[in-house]
Amino acid sequence: MGCGPGRNALHLASLGFEVDAVDLSPAAIAWAEDRARAEGAGVRFRCGDVFALAGTELGGPYDLIYDSGCFHHLPPHRRISDLALLERHLAPLGHFALACFAAGGEAGCELDDADLYRQARLHGGLAYSAESLRGIFAGLTEVELRRMRHEPPESPLFGESFLWTGLFRRTLPGVPPGSGSLPPFPGD
Ligand SMILES: C[S@@+](CC[C@H](N)C(=O)[O-])C[C@H]1O[C@@H](n2cnc3c(N)ncnc32)[C@H](O)[C@@H]1O
Repeated sequence: MGCGPGRNALHLASLGFEVDAVDLSPAAIAWAEDRARAEGAGVRFRCGDVFALAGTELGGPYDLIYDSGCFHHLPPHRRISDLALLERHLAPLGHFALACFAAGGEAGCELDDADLYRQARLHGGLAYSAESLRGIFAGLTEVELRRMRHEPPESPLFGESFLWTGLFRRTLPGVPPGSGSLPPFPGD
């Protein structure tokens, strides 16, 4: 979701995932397609609003839905669209991974929802507390939610400690989140 120039989509494709990747920006998608061609990666890129494409052009159910930096740019009322997308497109026992601004860090706006609507601006992205993320994604089972580890500029990895990194898992139909015996996530 909100794949930008395809950093994560290409990484997942290199690991053998079949990837659908969506972004609003035609420039980002064109850049991502160039990179995919150069790498010989078979990612299906689509340009558009991921919520408009959900239920029509998007397929699935997906084993993994990854949102790196899109969620924190959504206005509060779009969180419902986000949950509807997961409900519709995430496979039972599938994973939802998230990277977003963390409250108390040096990035992201911490106004409450009412003030965001009063000011009619998102101020470059919203910062979330762990508690608010756990509330929003309460329908999923939390596998891990922690601050991202900082990576120095010379590192080949991306890592910024002002971001949350989260992994959630969908339960089987009829099983409440957080309960039941679930298969371990690879690497647990
Ligand atoms: C901070 S960038 C992250 C890019 C990429 N995921 C990464 O981690 O490098 C956020 C991206 O989300 C896209 N975006 C925001 N709202 C979107 C929406 N409703 N549908 C699709 N893309 C969206 C923006 O165009 C932007 O490219």
